Amino acid sequence: MVAGNWKMNGLPSSAAELRKMIEALEGGAPCDVLICPPFPLIAPFVRDGADSGIEIGAQDCHRAESGAHTGDVSAALLAAIGARAVIVGHSERRADHGESDSLVRAKAEAVLAAKLLPIICVGETEAQRDAGEAEATVLAQLDGSLPDDAQIVVAYEPVWAIGTGRVPQMADIAAMHGAIRRAMVARYGEAGQGIRLLYGGSVKPGNAKEIFAIEDVDGGLIGGASLKADDFLAIVAAA
Ligand code: PGA
Repeated sequence: MVAGNWKMNGLPSSAAELRKMIEALEGGAPCDVLICPPFPLIAPFVRDGADSGIEIGAQDCHRAESGAHTGDVSAALLAAIGARAVIVGHSERRADHGESDSLVRAKAEAVLAAKLLPIICVGETEAQRDAGEAEATVLAQLDGSLPDDAQIVVAYEPVWAIGTGRVPQMADIAAMHGAIRRAMVARYGEAGQGIRLLYGGSVKPGNAKEIFAIEDVDGGLIGGASLKADDFLAIVAAA
C-alpha cells in the first residue's frame, strides 16, 4: 500500500493533481493506492476517483459516532461519503492536539465500527532515539493504541524524519519493522503476519525503492511527496 497524507494542503483546484494520478493508474494500480486529503476535499475526490485505482481516505476522525463535538467529523460520516480508510494517531495529531494512545485506540475502534480501515501511526522522537528508547517507545505506543481487531494497517513514522528530508539508516528501519511485526504476531497471532506495516518519513522517489525492499516494509505513508502527481506516481511504481 502507498498512502498519501496531504495534511493541511490542497484546494479544490488540487483535483487536477489527483486526476493526473488517476489517469496514470488507469488500467490498474500495482498496489493499493490511497490519497487522504483534508475533509472538504474527500467527497469531490471520491467522485473523481470512482472506479479508478485510487481510494480516498481521511486524516483523522472523532471517537464518537455522532454528538455534541463542534468541529469534529465522525467515521460514520466519512464512510457515508465514500472514504475507505482513516489515518489515526499521526504524530502531528498527537503533538498538536495532545492525542493519547487510549484516544488513538478509541478512534481506531470507531473507524472499524464504520467498516473502514484504520491506519494507526506510531514513532519515536529524536530525543527518544538518541536515548536508546526508540523501540520501547514504539512498542508502548502500539500496546496502547491498537484495537483488538486485526483489520488494521500500522505506519511507523519516526517523528524526526517527517518533513525533514532525513531518513533512518535502512538497518534501523529493518530492525524497527521486525520488532513491530513480532509485536503484531504476539498480539494477533497468525493474523499479525498479514498486517501491512508502512514506513513514513521523508519517503521520496529517490529512496522509495530501497525502503520498500526492506523485509516487513509493506508500503509507505507519504506526506510532502504525495502532493505532486509525478513524485507520488514514482513512489507507487517503486512499490
Ligand atoms: P513526509 O510526511 O513524507 O512529508 O515526511 C510523512 C507523514 O507525516 O505521513
